[in-house]
Amino acid sequence: MTLLEKIYETRDFLRDKGMTEPAFGLILGSGLGELAEEVENAIIIDYADIPNWGQSTVVGHAGKLVYGNLAGRKVIALQGRFHFYEGNHLDVVTFPVRVMKALGCEGVIVTNAAGGIGYGPGTLMAISDHINMTGQNPLIGENLEDFGPRFPDMSDAYTKAYREKAFAVAEKLNIKLDEGVYLGVTGPCYETPAEIRAFKTMGAHVVGMSTVPEVIVAAHSGLKVLGISAITNFAAGFQSELNHEEVVAVTQQIKGDFKALVKAILAEL
Ligand code: HPA
Repeated sequence: MTLLEKIYETRDFLRDKGMTEPAFGLILGSGLGELAEEVENAIIIDYADIPNWGQSTVVGHAGKLVYGNLAGRKVIALQGRFHFYEGNHLDVVTFPVRVMKALGCEGVIVTNAAGGIGYGPGTLMAISDHINMTGQNPLIGENLEDFGPRFPDMSDAYTKAYREKAFAVAEKLNIKLDEGVYLGVTGPCYETPAEIRAFKTMGAHVVGMSTVPEVIVAAHSGLKVLGISAITNFAAGFQSELNHEEVVAVTQQIKGDFKALVKAILAEL
């Protein structure tokens, strides 16, 4: 089966399960998947039961697709995403984004845990742009003409209007929301201090191991994007050691603000 046939097969499968006409896709990163538990009138499907779908292996990722109402909007939420470092092909990593587009989503909210280069742990940051340092591109291969052009423009990959709404909502809720550039690497090792110094001079504010492939595919297909990073640690060289337990623990601390913010933004989009 071609990639295109798989996308449409999965779309039809999800529609048959009642997942019709979602307005927004939510991609929930490490420790942030709890938001999906607040979806009302939820239809929940295990990843293992969805045709052509990847499998989630990281601690803190549940591996469920959740559809329903959140803040009055119809959403389809990925509770746990697929990473390149797990050994997934980028077609697998970005497959849910393509299915979200095929189901008719207008936009996606992509969230992640990230290391701060300047910004510190506990900060939420709206992503204004990214730097792709993965050495990979999910659009390599035959272009899916049904979705977008061979050479897509990335000038406005992170939708300004969404970001402006996010800032307005954050101010109303009295939640601090910074803005900056996300630099994407493949992982799974954390960066070296020398890499982080280099990334800083390149203009990065945070670094992480996800998001870039999904946003490239979203931009290709004309999906609007809001990206939010939850900064869980200072990047390498700015703190004494890095570990996944700290990433999960700090996400636990900021998830209250994170959930309130995303729900309030959704209501306004
Ligand atoms: N680097 C890369 N990815 C991350 C980090 C980091 O410091 N923290 C959370 N995800």
